[in-house]
Amino acid sequence: MKLNELGLEKDDIKNMYDTYFYETFKRFDFIAEGGHDAYLVDETGKEYLDFMAGIAVNSAGHCNPKVVEAIKAQCETLIHASNYCYTIPQGMLAKLICESIGMEKIYFQNSGAEANEVMMKLARKYGKDNYGPNRYKIVTASNSFHGRTLATLAATGQPGSAIQHNYDPFIPGITYAEYNNLKAFEEACDEDTIAVMVEPIQGEGGVIPATKEFLQGLRKLCDERDMLLLFDEVQTGWGRTGSLMAYMGYGVKPDCVSMAKAMGGGMPIGAMCTSAKLALTFGPGAHGSTYAGNPVCCAASYAQIKEIIDNNLSDNSAKMGEYFSGLLAKLPHVKEVRGHGLMIGVEFDKDIATDVKYNSADNGLLMTAVRPSVIRLVPPLNVTKEECDKAFEIIDKVVKELV
Ligand SMILES: Cc1ncc(COP(=O)(O)O)c(C=O)c1O
Repeated sequence: MKLNELGLEKDDIKNMYDTYFYETFKRFDFIAEGGHDAYLVDETGKEYLDFMAGIAVNSAGHCNPKVVEAIKAQCETLIHASNYCYTIPQGMLAKLICESIGMEKIYFQNSGAEANEVMMKLARKYGKDNYGPNRYKIVTASNSFHGRTLATLAATGQPGSAIQHNYDPFIPGITYAEYNNLKAFEEACDEDTIAVMVEPIQGEGGVIPATKEFLQGLRKLCDERDMLLLFDEVQTGWGRTGSLMAYMGYGVKPDCVSMAKAMGGGMPIGAMCTSAKLALTFGPGAHGSTYAGNPVCCAASYAQIKEIIDNNLSDNSAKMGEYFSGLLAKLPHVKEVRGHGLMIGVEFDKDIATDVKYNSADNGLLMTAVRPSVIRLVPPLNVTKEECDKAFEIIDKVVKELV
C-alpha cells in the first residue's frame, strides 16, 4: 500500500494511530512505506540505511527477492490448512533447520516469546515426567529478556522495570542469577531445578555477550545435575553473531534452543529445536497452535534460511562485524564496543543513546537504543563495507554534534 495511491497524507495515518491504537512504542516520525536491501523507504521516498533491520529480523535484506518469490508462490497455492494436515513447506523447513544446526526435533511457533514459552513448557513437562511433581523450576539470568507473555515475562530478569510493572504475580518456580557468573547459577539451582535458560548474548539487556567459560560451565553444571540447558537464540540465531546459531560459535550445544526474528525474513514465525533427549516429551495434545508453522511463513522461512546458508551470510556477518566494530571504536565518547558478528552494542560514557538514535534517523540511519548509554546496531547480514562506512560517518557526525 502507498499513501499517494490511496489519496492519503502522512497525518491521516498518524491520526489513525492516535485515535485507535494502544501506543506502546515511541515511533520514528515517518511512515515505513517500502524497503529494499539494507534500506527502509519512507512516504516521501527518503531512504534510511537500516541498521535496526526490523529489530534483527531482515537479515537477508528488506523484501529479499527469494523470500518474496517464495511467499507469492505459496500464497497462490495454499495459505493455511491447520496443523491437522501435513504441508510441504513445514516438512521441508523442519528438515532444513534440524539438519543445519545439528538438532533432532522442532516445534514451530509464531514469535520469539511463544518459542520461549513452549521451550519452558517442554522443560517443565520433561522435569515432571521424569523426576516427579516438584521438578519444574527454571533459573534464568538477571538483565535477560525472553518476551512479553506472562511466562516469558516471569523469565525476564528485570524486576521493577516498565516491562514487568503491575503484571505480577508471575508463574512460580523462576529465579534469576547474575549473567556470566557461574557460581551464582550453581547456587541458584536446587534439587527442584530442571532447567537453566540464557541468551548467548543478552540483546535487549545492552548487547552483553556470554563468556565461553560461562556457557561451558553451564553445560557442565546441567550435565552434572541432570538439568536441561536452554538457549534463547531469538535474537542471536541465524547468522547474526557470525555462526549459524550463536551456540555453534561458542561450541556449547544446548538441549533446546529457541529462535524467531531472522528465520522468517519478516514473516511471523518462531521455533524451538531440541536434541534427541527431549524427543518423547511432547505427544498428541501436549501443545498446539492454530497458525504455528503456517505454510506461507514456512515457505518464507525456508527461502530466508537458504539465502543465509547459500550466501554464507554468517561469514559476512563475522567479517563485516569485525570491520564495523573497529570503526565504531573510533567514535568519540565510546566506553566499549561489544558483541559478536553483526550484533553490536556501543556503550558511550554518557546517556546519549536515545539522542543518537533519533538524530541518526534524521540523518538517514536507523538503529535502536537498548540502554540509556547503549545503541544497538544489527544491520542485514549482507551489508557492505561501504554501507558500514556510511553508517559510521553518520553516527560520528551525530555524536560530535551532541557532546
Ligand atoms: C532474546 C529474545 N527473546 C525473546 C524475544 C521476544 O520475541 P518476540 O518479540 O518475537 O516475541 C526477543 C525480542 O526482542 C528477544 O530479543
